[in-house]
Amino acid sequence: MELEIKKNVKLADYSTFKIGGLAKYFVVVKSEDDFIVAIKWAKRRSKKIFVLGGGSNILFSDKGFDGLVIKNEIKGMEVVGENEDSAIIKSYSGEAWSKMVNFSISRNYYGIENMFYIFGTVGAAPVQNIGAYGVELKDIFYNLCAIDLKTGEKKYFNLKDCQFAYRDSIFKNKLKNKYFVLWVELKLSKKEKFNLEYGDIKNKLAEKGIENPKLKDVAEVIQEIRNLKLPNPGILPNAGSFFKNPVISEDEFKILKDKFSDIKSFPDQKGIKIPAGWLIEQVDVKGYRHGDAGVYENQALILVNHGSASQKDVLFLVDLVKKNVFDKFGIILEAEVNILK
Ligand code: EPU
Repeated sequence: MELEIKKNVKLADYSTFKIGGLAKYFVVVKSEDDFIVAIKWAKRRSKKIFVLGGGSNILFSDKGFDGLVIKNEIKGMEVVGENEDSAIIKSYSGEAWSKMVNFSISRNYYGIENMFYIFGTVGAAPVQNIGAYGVELKDIFYNLCAIDLKTGEKKYFNLKDCQFAYRDSIFKNKLKNKYFVLWVELKLSKKEKFNLEYGDIKNKLAEKGIENPKLKDVAEVIQEIRNLKLPNPGILPNAGSFFKNPVISEDEFKILKDKFSDIKSFPDQKGIKIPAGWLIEQVDVKGYRHGDAGVYENQALILVNHGSASQKDVLFLVDLVKKNVFDKFGIILEAEVNILK
């Protein structure tokens, strides 16, 4: 089948931040074969490629993209294995992540419910090891299949191969821009198994008088918490948490704790995690605006587009936030959103 390669497509329309210039070439792929045709098309013309999923974690350049943007719409989801205790579900990468969560909840599979209501596609989930409310993708990950962008060959990655860490994986490091995730398999529990330790979940369930929650109760509570804290990109364009929560050593933490006794912190595998939202709030930029780019007034970790912000506006704000946080705390904030310059 011939693929329709469009020219000069506005990337802002494909990003939840609603920012970005024109993609010189743009194609929608709906199957593995389409994808192979698309990468060959780009290779023959020596064009760069960029694979786009849900566009929910990206800040495109105002100059656009001088190559081929491949919009992934490869779909399909099924249960591929099952025993008394667990089930393995497989989803192609162009499906919405939220569909995979709904698919599991409707079958009474446990383990994924805390990641309800996260925007983006299944394919992006392992790349940045998405997470929320005490659960990360790595906790339920089973296997994935990816296509080598150079050779078109398939390769399988198990949990160890992916080298997952907080908002990180091999696909953001050693293999950055080298593979396309084609499908992902998750292993979920068929036995009741909740993760309710995150403070807000416990409080909300208690508020509602729910002592023995069902999967749908937990999903509902997660949705309510997210709605309170995170702006709906359909109303106020944004890309979720803009920065990662920095992880510092125990020693560094002790020094900060002496100076800032109310500093918030969480244990992490690699040290102490400090909520970037708290750090940003302390430097008085919550709600601050530079042009139409702003720090969200209810959650300082999120940068928003109040109308016609450009990447330049957002990056100005990013530098300001980073400088202020560094000057006060000596901590370097790192972006979580993928910034295409
Ligand atoms: N906080 C403040 N001020 C703020 C924002 C947060 O003091 O303006 C404090 C809160 O009081 C709380 C702590 O920071 O004690 C943590 O806040 P929250 O629970 O809202 O989570 P977060 O650390 O800001 C992370 C993830 C979110 C995820 C939530 C829940 C990152 C970069 N972000 O945010 O993920 O939903 O935890 O697990 O790790 C995303 O990745 O796009 C995302 C939304």
